[in-house]
Amino acid sequence: MIIRMLSPLLAYTCRYCAPLNHLLTFTLHQHHHHRHSLVVSAPSTTLSCLHPPNPRFLTGNSLVFKMERFFSGSGINKNKAMVEHLQRYGVINSKKVAQVMETVDRALFVPDGNPPYVDSPMQIGYNATISAPHMHATCLELLQENLQPGMHALDVGSGTGYLTACFALMVGPQGCAVGVEHIPELVASSIKNIEKSAAAPLLKEGSLTLHAGDGRLGWPECAPYDAIHVGAAAPEIPQPLIDQLKPGGRMVIPVGNIFQDLKVVDKNLDGSISVRSETSVRYVPLTSREAQLRDY
Ligand SMILES: C[S@@+](CC[C@H](N)C(=O)[O-])C[C@H]1O[C@@H](n2cnc3c(N)ncnc32)[C@H](O)[C@@H]1O
Repeated sequence: MIIRMLSPLLAYTCRYCAPLNHLLTFTLHQHHHHRHSLVVSAPSTTLSCLHPPNPRFLTGNSLVFKMERFFSGSGINKNKAMVEHLQRYGVINSKKVAQVMETVDRALFVPDGNPPYVDSPMQIGYNATISAPHMHATCLELLQENLQPGMHALDVGSGTGYLTACFALMVGPQGCAVGVEHIPELVASSIKNIEKSAAAPLLKEGSLTLHAGDGRLGWPECAPYDAIHVGAAAPEIPQPLIDQLKPGGRMVIPVGNIFQDLKVVDKNLDGSISVRSETSVRYVPLTSREAQLRDY
């Protein structure tokens, strides 16, 4: 009965998130940023969608994930509490990921005036966003085996530098963490963010570097990479990134246009590639600087 009453609304708000029929209970929330957020819960599944008026800004977000949103941030106003919440909902399972997210305070990377620990992507200017905490956590979980001390990690579309800082702390001073971002102003502000963070010494020593450039070309200087993260959605997986992945390495990349999947790309030891879809997501496009800034 409730499903029938809400079905037109579901069809409008959740067209990317079918099938819904098997889901049993739902709660509808009005998000405090004028976004409509629908949290649908089944005994073992929680499905959450966030559809703001301009879909371009619905980015850095999983469309299917296992936790409810923190709507006002009240009660979840500390970085550690945010991490504990992600652990409780099963988004973070490993100690290493929890540790690094506790160590890198998200508040240093979220532009002033935004609630830093709310589980939502936020605009950072230049038609870009900082991804939601659950998305950062998901990508760190997927890549953690490839972020061991001494390993090489590439963060394409590094934006605020948050994930590059996490990668740098995980691979340590003997490793190499590279961020590539095509908006020079964001590169400059990401450096300032990281200088205030726990990853500052690694930036100073040079195991963490940030560069302005087209991330679709990767960053050959530090290749091959054990881990590659792409923070923007590519129409298809760029060949230079596959080429710069080490055998045994893993890339996590959103692929698609309107419909996007977070793909996990593993390069096998014989050099062949295995690809699987992790979850449906919505990210800003991996594109040219001109295209990104066209209506900015
Ligand atoms: C969703 S944001 C994610 C940023 C980062 N992961 C974070 O959470 O702060 C995607 C970023 O990719 C960048 N981007 C898009 N296309 C790019 C390209 N071709 N090369 C490098 N960066 C690109 C955008 O400028 C934006 O900063």
